[in-house]
Amino acid sequence: MTTDQIKKAYLDFFTNKKHAVIPPAPLIPQDDPTTLFNNSGMQQLVPYLKGEPHPMGKRLVDSQPCFRAEDIDEVGDNRHTTYFEMLGNWSLGDYFKKEQLAWIWEFLTNILKLPKEKLFISVFKGDKNIRKDEESIKIWKSLGIKDNHIFQYPAEKNWWSRAGTPDKMPTGEIGGPDSEIFYDFGKEYNFHEKSEYKDKKCHLNCDCGRYLEIGNSVFMQYIKTKNNSLKPLPKQNVDFGGGLERLAQAVQKTPDIFQINIFKPIIKSIEKATNKKYQGKNKTPMRIIADHLRSAKAMIDQGLEPSNKQQGYVLRRLIRRSAVKFRQLTGELNSQNFSKIIDEPALIKEINKFQKSLNKGLNLIDRATNKDGSCQKVDAQFAFNLFQTHGFPFEITQEILKSKNIKIKKSDFNKLKKSHSKKSKSASAGMFKGGLEDQSEATTKLHTATHLLHQTLRQILGDHIKQEGSNITAKRLRFDFTHDQALTDDQLKKVENLINKQIKKDLSVTKKIEKLKTAINSGALAFFKENYPDKVTVYSIGDFSKELCGGPHVNSTGEIGGVKIIKQDSIGAGKRRIYVALKNGIKKSAH
Ligand code: SER
Repeated sequence: MTTDQIKKAYLDFFTNKKHAVIPPAPLIPQDDPTTLFNNSGMQQLVPYLKGEPHPMGKRLVDSQPCFRAEDIDEVGDNRHTTYFEMLGNWSLGDYFKKEQLAWIWEFLTNILKLPKEKLFISVFKGDKNIRKDEESIKIWKSLGIKDNHIFQYPAEKNWWSRAGTPDKMPTGEIGGPDSEIFYDFGKEYNFHEKSEYKDKKCHLNCDCGRYLEIGNSVFMQYIKTKNNSLKPLPKQNVDFGGGLERLAQAVQKTPDIFQINIFKPIIKSIEKATNKKYQGKNKTPMRIIADHLRSAKAMIDQGLEPSNKQQGYVLRRLIRRSAVKFRQLTGELNSQNFSKIIDEPALIKEINKFQKSLNKGLNLIDRATNKDGSCQKVDAQFAFNLFQTHGFPFEITQEILKSKNIKIKKSDFNKLKKSHSKKSKSASAGMFKGGLEDQSEATTKLHTATHLLHQTLRQILGDHIKQEGSNITAKRLRFDFTHDQALTDDQLKKVENLINKQIKKDLSVTKKIEKLKTAINSGALAFFKENYPDKVTVYSIGDFSKELCGGPHVNSTGEIGGVKIIKQDSIGAGKRRIYVALKNGIKKSAH
């Protein structure tokens, strides 16, 4: 079976079990300050797992494109990728462990026809706060799984929340014990014997590569409270996630994810472009190029451009890291050859930008690390200079230096960067590298203000205004829209005044579930780049605005207090960007 066939079989299987298929969320989330990229299927379902009714019901299924920046350094082994599709099914307070484990077992063994003896199970061992998951063990046994295929692990392995173990979960974050399914590639590949773990015992969660996690049923039951304890959620939910590419590995019986049907052609084109074979020490750089370019393409397809900030910086890092690996394989970075792998203009433009400085930068590193040569100190300042002058993302310098046994700290580099430009904010580091920022009151206020801004722009500038994207942090909202000229000072003032007028009126914010067609026909605004399910949640602000949205919002506009437009920018032909902050929370450098 190909990945497409596996995906279809999964969606059909759960549709037959009365699940509604929901559209995947965009890879780059809108209005979610907690994460730069969608990195799990449940991300778009957080409010519903917390208890809000979902417009499509209590049983949902989808296939969600995900990107995990935190796995970037793992890419190169037999199973990690930064971009992947996650098959997911959810019970929102409907079925629970008994149905979930039986169904997923049926899907794996009857539909995908994976041999039972190759499948292994892990369950939560329990700790001082939460009991061992005896129930799951019992269910697995009732399904015919033998004792020697079921293993227990602590929270580090069998607890799932977006932030990790219970102690790492911030207030308001949800999580629960989970049960994972592993596929055993068997002893014949000598994974363990050939790995750095060879002196230790091999087990399900060993990183040698023999056992591959192919699915995870999370029993989403708890929410972290202010006093740092776990409180049961109003309803018991199921959140299943299974990596499509990994399922394909098991089905296609290849322990190398880069040999499944979707990666094979990419690897082939890398072989052609580099004139090297996918073997021996070429494998790691080729895997990195294949993964990073697939991720980069998915981001570019969503309209992202390489930059030095947030998501754009991650994209830049992916492309430039592929360029470094390409040069490692071929001895030069020739963009014409590079374009044989992927002929994507935005990507090649970035390669061209980096081409000249790559050689200079690498020569500098060589000279500085050659003991007989330069007396230059290789430290954070050195990495900062490479970043400033030659556009080397810090992580690339760090990786090259690491291979020469030189360590430099990101915190030292960041200090230099911060003092150089108070404005600059890098990377994804603080934003959800497993950790979450708290959902703050300010972001909720700004979320409602975004709806007010959208409607206001249409009233003042005209109905041609369409949302192109938006992004909200606790400090400001950013709104992109279609319009072909800068707003005059007078227009900006009018926009600000009209929003503040609606705030003063203290209009109530109400929520309703409607059929998508009904909502659109009634004039509800939407972010048309997103795919919506057949039923949607619609938020109305008095009679002023009506918009498709998942929330959260304030109860009435008075809670916002007041807003101020900070600045406007052009973001390319026919597109504008406006930044707005709360009146009492304005920071001069907000952007
Ligand atoms: N949330 C879990 C995961 O991402 C299962 O969907 O692995």
